[in-house]
Amino acid sequence: MVEEIKRSKKLVIAYFGILLLAFSVFQYFLLFKVNSKMYALYGSIFLAFVSFLFFYFLIKKTMTTVIDDIARKKYELSSIKQINNAIINVLHLDDLLELIINIGLQVMNAEKGSIMLIEPDRNILILKSAVGMPKELIGKIEQKLGEGVAGFVAENGEPLLIEDIFKDKRFGKKRPKNQDMYKNNSLISAPLLIKKEIIGVININNKKDGSIFSQDDLELLITLANQAAISIETAKLHENVKEYIISVVKMATRALEAKDEYTFGHSERVTQYAVDIAEKMGLDSELKENLRKAGLLHDIGKIGVRESVLLKPGRLTDEEFAEIKSHPTIGYEIIESMEIDESIKDAVLHHHERFDGWGYPDKLKGEGISLLSRILCVADSFDAMSSNRPYRKALPAKIVISELTKNSGTQFDPEIVVIFLEILRGQGYYKEEDLIEETEEPKETEEK
Ligand SMILES: [Fe+2]
Repeated sequence: MVEEIKRSKKLVIAYFGILLLAFSVFQYFLLFKVNSKMYALYGSIFLAFVSFLFFYFLIKKTMTTVIDDIARKKYELSSIKQINNAIINVLHLDDLLELIINIGLQVMNAEKGSIMLIEPDRNILILKSAVGMPKELIGKIEQKLGEGVAGFVAENGEPLLIEDIFKDKRFGKKRPKNQDMYKNNSLISAPLLIKKEIIGVININNKKDGSIFSQDDLELLITLANQAAISIETAKLHENVKEYIISVVKMATRALEAKDEYTFGHSERVTQYAVDIAEKMGLDSELKENLRKAGLLHDIGKIGVRESVLLKPGRLTDEEFAEIKSHPTIGYEIIESMEIDESIKDAVLHHHERFDGWGYPDKLKGEGISLLSRILCVADSFDAMSSNRPYRKALPAKIVISELTKNSGTQFDPEIVVIFLEILRGQGYYKEEDLIEETEEPKETEEK
């Protein structure tokens, strides 16, 4: 409606300008007949000049509005594109929510934004992501449906543009506790809707220039919210499917390990060591999550190895050892078609590669072996040495540490060994003074 009024105003100015121009031409002929040529000329030049000024300012104003509109549309399109890219590349719900808020803030030129999702069982909104606010509030701020701005939007499914929260009769009395976080009292809020079902709310506060949010801002937020809701739902589904796949494979690994009392719990212990290393290395949450999954799946290929070979207490023949060595490839073939990150599949295939290039199955070398595989290799070998096997008892801590150190740079990535030793020392697995220089005891750094 506001836009229509603006448009009609410009039309009136345009008609007025055309009339003025026509009148100046008419006056020229009139004055030409009545008075002199000079009067006619000056009079019409003056009127033509006034008309020119009218046209000039009108065109300038219209062009600015058109350019603004194009820029806004471009933002709108790019924000939708960014969300679409995010859903392909950022499948973690937390990352996606933060990205959506950041796009909203960028488009709306604002400083603070949040997404609250409805907890279906409890019928309340919970703050799931926020930008421009303390991160510790995430997961802690709750809002009952129907209460406050977000609660109102979530209950009614209607977007809200509030020019001044304290003057709004619906919310004026309910001043937010964290009121000092807001630059002014204007805000916009839109529901996240999936087929008319409300899943949450997106809120944007604090225009950087301190101005009040406009109807255009609200319309942009509604477009963003519609796209965001689909993305959030897809990301949720994706996470559920991936978790389901992992849980099935985890069950299969447990069933496999349950047959052998010696390897029971091996995959979960390896996963824990690997995640500890990743934490200490400061790896990002996505890499850690992929490492966790790779740890749980790394020995899944042993399903394809005969039980008599897996559980053989004595020394393996060359043929039997070759069969054991096929488990990374079998594992990779089992998970190849799964919808999980490629780095997880790669780590399953290459967790027995050696840093010096003499591992299997592909004889990869150094940093040609992925970081996840190099971490798993250290974690896997440590668990193999530090737990009982059908053919020997768990090695004492000092020998395990000695083997890790001696094989650092040949079997293992030396940087990862240093980090892992720090972790083990910190956990009290060994003390510096217990270390020995050489050992004559049998070595078994490779898990059979
Ligand atoms: Fe293995």
